[in-house]
Parts: sequence; structure tokens; C-alpha cells
Amino acid sequence: MSSITIRNLSYQYPISESDALKNVNVTIEKGKLYALVGANGGGKTTLCNVIRGFIPHFYKGDLRGEVLIEGKDIREWEMGELSQKIGYVFQNPFTQISGVKDNVFEEIAFGLENLGMDIERIKEKVNNVIQMLEIDYLRDKNPFELSGGQKQRVALASIIVMEPDVLVIDEPTSQLDPKGTEEVFKIIEMMKNKGKTIILVEHKIELIAEYADHIILMKDGEVVMQGETKQILTDERAIELGCSLPQYSMFGLEMRKRNLDLGGIPVTEQEALAFVKTWLEKEGKA
Ligand SMILES: Nc1ncnc2c1ncn2[C@@H]1O[C@H](COP(=O)(O)OP(=O)(O)O)[C@@H](O)[C@H]1O
Ligand SMILES: [Mg+2]
Repeated sequence: MSSITIRNLSYQYPISESDALKNVNVTIEKGKLYALVGANGGGKTTLCNVIRGFIPHFYKGDLRGEVLIEGKDIREWEMGELSQKIGYVFQNPFTQISGVKDNVFEEIAFGLENLGMDIERIKEKVNNVIQMLEIDYLRDKNPFELSGGQKQRVALASIIVMEPDVLVIDEPTSQLDPKGTEEVFKIIEMMKNKGKTIILVEHKIELIAEYADHIILMKDGEVVMQGETKQILTDERAIELGCSLPQYSMFGLEMRKRNLDLGGIPVTEQEALAFVKTWLEKEGKA
């Protein structure tokens, strides 16, 4: 079932000369993870802001075409309702932190408090999320004293606690070290396993290869390629359009150029190892 349908969408920011989005057509299916990729200035954040209704509700400008969230036009959604359905995690976790709460537990509770939820239910929900994301050791800390990775996990927790169906996550790991990145992806995988629909802007292509179902590649406001992860990441044309390929794909493509048939092009480490193992056995070298 489709959760978000975007048809012939173009958008021009106020006081701008040209369109930041140009005739975008995308269908987002429920429960799938979509990686939004491409060079800077391609329109990824703008598209995220349309999906969460920030455009056109706060940013005016000129929006043409159709954006349907569960069949209802984005212009007709009430922002309060939409923000409960679609959770948005900012690139900079600092932006997400409210600044009015002095410990992590209360920070995570903030959104539910604003909904006027019963205090006992809030506590229960916050405790559940803290357990699930394994951040119990942070509960009494000041949100501003956390490391980048810890802040990002608290930012994710404060969105996940609201139980949105869709998560839009804009470059969550761009400011994180490998350990922080891994922890954030653990949470993303957890959300995927819970059946959430996820739209993830991310540059780390090896991680996209592992986790994404689909890839949407944007360049200069246009969607220039989209399809299943495997299909996009084994297609050399993606490189010229601004999407790097995983080292395993590059290896596979190189082997193919040398007429060494591995039986396919791998995109992940696991696939690469499996292909090589099969190939060695076939060649009688194992
Ligand atoms: N608030 C804004 N006002 C005017 N132009 C903007 C604004 N935000 C982004 N843009 C422009 O829209 C285009 C797409 O930007 P953006 O969506 O941020 O790309 P990405 O997230 O892929 O880097 C760029 O040309 C950028 O300069
Ligand atoms: Mg961006």
C-alpha cells in the first residue's frame, strides 16, 4: 500500500529565481526504507520538507503538482495531525533539542507533554523508548552535555516516542564518528523491523546498500534515477549522476570488465564474499 504519492511536483522558494524541485514523481510504499541520495543542492532536504508539510505550511513559495499523504493532499492536512504521522529528524541534532528541559528523560517526554497526555502514560512510553534504544544511562544527563552521537540518539528517541508511521531522517550521521553512525543505524534498523516507513537522506553508500530497499537519486532538483537498491547500486550511470557506488559494486563491475563472471554484481560485503566463494569453488580453486 502506498503511503505517500508525489506527482509532477515542482517547487520554487520565495525570493528564488529557479525551481528547487522539478517535476518530481515518487511513490513511497508503507514499511519500506527509501534512501534519498545525491550531491549537495540536489533538493533532498527540500523534498523532505514538502513530505513533512513544512512546505507549503510554513515556507510559502510556489508549489505545483500533487503530494498525497495517505491519499490526502498535503495542503489539506492540518500541521498538528501531520506532525504526529510523520516524524522529522534534523541533520544537526542540536536543532532538535528543545532547550527547555534539563535532563534526557524530560526532553524525550516533551512532545507527549505538549499533546496533553496523562503523566503516567508519558512515563511509561518514555521508559519503553529508553529501554528499546538502550540509552538508560543517559536519562539524567543534560541534553546539551551529550556527545554528538548521544544527542542524535536522544533526538531520535524524542521522535520515536511519538510513534509516527513515517520517519523522515535528514543526514543523521553526517556529524558522527563511525561508532555514533553504527548506533544510529541500529536504531534505524529497529524502526524498519517495526514496520515504519523511512525516508533517509544519507551519503554513506555502504550503509545504504545494507539497509535501504529503494534509492531515489536527486540532482539539481530532479529525480534522475530511482529503483530498488540493488538495481541502482550496480548501475555505473549512477556515478556520473552523483551517487557513489559501494566498493563491492565497483569490484564486481571491474571483474565483469575483465570478463570474470562472478555470477552477478555484489553490493554488500556479505554478497561479495558469497560471490567470490562460489566463483572460487567453480574454478576449482577452493
Ligand atoms: N530557504 C531557501 N530559500 C531559497 N533557496 C533555498 C532554500 N533552501 C534551499 N534552497 C535551494 O534549493 C536547492 C536545493 O537545496 P536542498 O534541498 O537543501 O538540497 P540538498 O538537501 O540536496 O543539499 C539549492 O539550490 C538551495 O540553494
Ligand atoms: Mg540537505
